[in-house]
Amino acid sequence: MIAPGSTIGVLGGGQLGRMLALAAASMGYRVHVFAPEAELPAGDVAAAVTRAGYDDAAALDGFAAAVDVVTFEFENIDTAAIRHLVARVPVYPGAASLEVAQDRLAEKRFVETLGGRPAAYRAVDSRADLDAAIAALGTPAVLKTRRMGYDGKGQARLHGPADADAAWAAIAGAPAVLEAWVDFSHEFSVVLARGQDGETCVWPVPHNVHRAGILDTSQVPAPAEITAQAAEAIALARRVADTLGHVGVLTLEFFATADGPRFNEMAPRVHNSAHWTIEGARASQFENHIRAVCGLPLGSTELTAPTVMMKNLLGDDVHDWCHLLADSRAHLHLYGKSEVKPGRKMGHVTWL
Ligand SMILES: Nc1ncnc2c1ncn2[C@@H]1O[C@H](COP(=O)(O)OP(=O)(O)O)[C@@H](O)[C@H]1O
Ligand SMILES: [Mg+2]
Repeated sequence: MIAPGSTIGVLGGGQLGRMLALAAASMGYRVHVFAPEAELPAGDVAAAVTRAGYDDAAALDGFAAAVDVVTFEFENIDTAAIRHLVARVPVYPGAASLEVAQDRLAEKRFVETLGGRPAAYRAVDSRADLDAAIAALGTPAVLKTRRMGYDGKGQARLHGPADADAAWAAIAGAPAVLEAWVDFSHEFSVVLARGQDGETCVWPVPHNVHRAGILDTSQVPAPAEITAQAAEAIALARRVADTLGHVGVLTLEFFATADGPRFNEMAPRVHNSAHWTIEGARASQFENHIRAVCGLPLGSTELTAPTVMMKNLLGDDVHDWCHLLADSRAHLHLYGKSEVKPGRKMGHVTWL
């Protein structure tokens, strides 16, 4: 067990790291952030920061020596950095979770071995593969890079076969998967936390609404169309976590369809669709992630209110902060990012 007073290393310095650091601090831990960017939302609330690249072995050594355990807030870290750290300090979740979740193709194949059902897909490594995939799957479809995609980036929609050239150009010919477009009624996610002893807890599944590929709102309880499929999705998420030996928070995104839950993607980390747990659940995803990586018992995922809703503040939405503060029921979270860009996650609001 890593006791309060110890130092938790966090790879990545964005808003997820910031909220992890706040949860850790409230439990008596120190947080040491490791990230390359000049501006670090997590660094602003951490006890220590190492600003270095994930390929900087000397910086990783210094970081490993300064912390008692390491976790990460985003999954696009070279696994070489993780392997370097694992030899020196405990790292949770482990490299297995990271490797699967970094690659959309590996992720789909892995989840299928556990009984999950992604949208029909084909691997696309060349322009000719793309034509073959379109012939096999039809359109509409979506071409996604295997690696590094987030918030709808690294994706191109195909309305018809004539969009193939534009889609291939849009992802710059990177290794990809073509996915059939899913006719879904709703989107939802399963967010669970798994401890070092295998104990697992799941928050009530949120109904997620995306706009232009970016999460807009998450709401609990979810409507009946989702809750009717939640048990199957939760069972799959538990199998994924157990099989990977995952420790910490794990998120699986799903489409609710007439044909049951279709797996979309997974993230081996805390997730935007569970930010509402900060006020809306007895233990937040951030608190339970810290508890899990430190080997502590997990907190209750029970709701603190009958209904909870979270809305992202994207780009210029952040300028509404003053109005939002005037709403005495709104819990405002701002991430301290100085540059406002369209679609950039600047903060979020939660209503109970
Ligand atoms: N095959 C699909 N069918 C229908 N909608 C999709 C499909 N793939 C992605 N989307 C839409 O785009 C959003 C973002 O895609 P996702 O694969 O989750 O990538 P990201 O890593 O950017 O979150 C999804 O939440 C969904 O709204
Ligand atoms: Mg997604």
